Order: sequence, then structure tokens, then C-alpha cells
Amino acid sequence: MSSHRYAVFGHPVAHSLSPRIHAAFAQQAGIALEYTAIDAAPHDFVAALDRFADDGGAGANVTLPLKEAAFAICAQTTDRARRAGAVNTLTRNDGQWHGDNTDGAGLVRDLTGRHGLDLRARRALLLGAGGAARGVAPALLDAGISELIIVNRTAERADALADALGEPDRAHSRYWRDLGDLGDFSLIVNATSASRQDQGAFTLPFHLATPRTLAVDLNYGEAAIPFLAWARAAGCHDAVDGLGMLVEQAAEAFEHWHGVRPDTDPVYAALRDRDKVLVTAD
Ligand code: ATR
Repeated sequence: MSSHRYAVFGHPVAHSLSPRIHAAFAQQAGIALEYTAIDAAPHDFVAALDRFADDGGAGANVTLPLKEAAFAICAQTTDRARRAGAVNTLTRNDGQWHGDNTDGAGLVRDLTGRHGLDLRARRALLLGAGGAARGVAPALLDAGISELIIVNRTAERADALADALGEPDRAHSRYWRDLGDLGDFSLIVNATSASRQDQGAFTLPFHLATPRTLAVDLNYGEAAIPFLAWARAAGCHDAVDGLGMLVEQAAEAFEHWHGVRPDTDPVYAALRDRDKVLVTAD
């Protein structure tokens, strides 16, 4: 057995692209890597992580719905993980888990680097307040957006996220039912899992968008179709799915674990080619 094992934990996790992304990075870097997908239901997550650590687990990515649970089990966390209250990258150090959150940095790198978009001074609407929303909110503020309005089906979670961000002048929550009264936005981020669930997607008023709006879905593949279809119908200037963010957050984790910065472009291009969906950013 290798003494350095890596994995992604999620529920479900079978369709995760992370093993493929990390394998491609490892091949680039000439590193032999074991990186698997481990399905762990929330109630079994801590036990599964313990087993993984006992078996030589050195690092793990965490995806839905386990990012807030991962934060809770860490002995130490980075500042950006604490601001998010969610962890997507775990590293084993001295018999304890250290937690980081690379989602926000991954998103901003994808939007500003790959897609050449400027986030500064944008008035932003964040739909959702779960682990994914928590991961990206601090990085969006750091990227210079002028305002962040958080709207969530369950209002208390939006309130809690706004409080945790600690920037009452820029970041605040509003009720979902008031979406029609919030004016328009130059950045709209879908961080909900609505399209991954049985009850399907929600509808949004078209007047949230303008011809210069950037619409971003943190989902990718089929789960990004409903929101990005809405964005196009609403006349948004750019509509970007979460595939690039996925690759960039993986690169952040890979660099942290292995000390090598991967070249993300060929990996992104291969996955995009396979996926054949959904980016219309200039
Ligand atoms: P993730 O890690 O993907 O963020 P999560 O923490 O379970 O997963 O959060 C899912 C998010 O999608 C939440 O903001 C959730 O809203 P609630 O807090 O009200 O549950 C949101 N969501 C899920 N289904 C939704 C739906 N049908 N309509 C609107 N929001 C939905």
C-alpha cells in the first residue's frame, strides 16, 4: 500500500471528475499518485476519514454535502476556510486534519484568468448559502465586487453567511420572495444545488440581468443547464459554468500537497471537450 493516498469524499461522489483531474496533474508532474473517490454519507463521514487516515491518507478533497462537516473536524484551518465556514481541502499533519478552502480562489482564477473577466465594482447576487456559496463568497469580496446580496431558500442560512462574512456595508441577505425587488446585478452566481435535486430548478425574474451581466453557475455538466439557459434567455453578456473553477480549485490543492503548480489549460480543455457544454464567456 502506498503511504501517500489522496481521495475526494462526497455523497454521491461516483461521477466526480476530481480523480481524473488529479491524475492528469500527477502525470504532468511525473508524480505517482493514488487518488480515489470515496462515498461517505454525512453520518459516516468522520469514521470514513479516520479509516482513510489509518490507511495512509495524506490529503483529501471534500465535496457536497460534506464541506461544512469537514470544517468542523479540523484541528487547524486557514483564514479563508474560517471565513467560509467550509473546507474543501484536507491535509494530514501530525495526526490531525488541517483544512483549507480553495473554491473561492479557484473561481476567481477561472473568471479573471481563463475568461479575462473583471469582477471589480460588480454588484453581485449570490443564490444559495450552503457549502458552495460559503466557499466562494469571501473570494468574491476580495476580488473587489461592490456589493454582495445573498438570497437563499432558507433565509436563516443567508443571514448566517452574511454575518460570518463580517462586512455589513457590502454583504447582506435578502428574502428569496423579494428577488423581484432587488434591482439588477452585473454578477449573478448560482450556488444552489436545485438542479441536482428531484424537484428541479427554480425560476428567476429576467430583470435581474442586464446586457453586461456575468452569470456563473458553480455546477457543471447537466446540472448547469437550467441556470445558464435562463442567463442566456435573460440576455446576460457571459454565462460560465463551474468546470473551470473545479479544475482551478484542484490545482490549488495539488500545489499545496505536492509543491508543483499544474498547467490547468490542457486539463480544462480535455474535460470541456468531453463535456461539450456551456461556456459563452468572451
Ligand atoms: P452545496 O455544498 O452544493 O452548497 P448544500 O450545502 O447542501 O450543498 O447547499 C445547497 C444549497 O442549494 C442551499 O443553499 C439550498 O437551500 P437551503 O439552504 O434552503 O436548503 C439550495 N437549494 C437546494 N435546492 C433548492 C431549490 N429547489 N430551490 C432553491 N434553493 C435550493
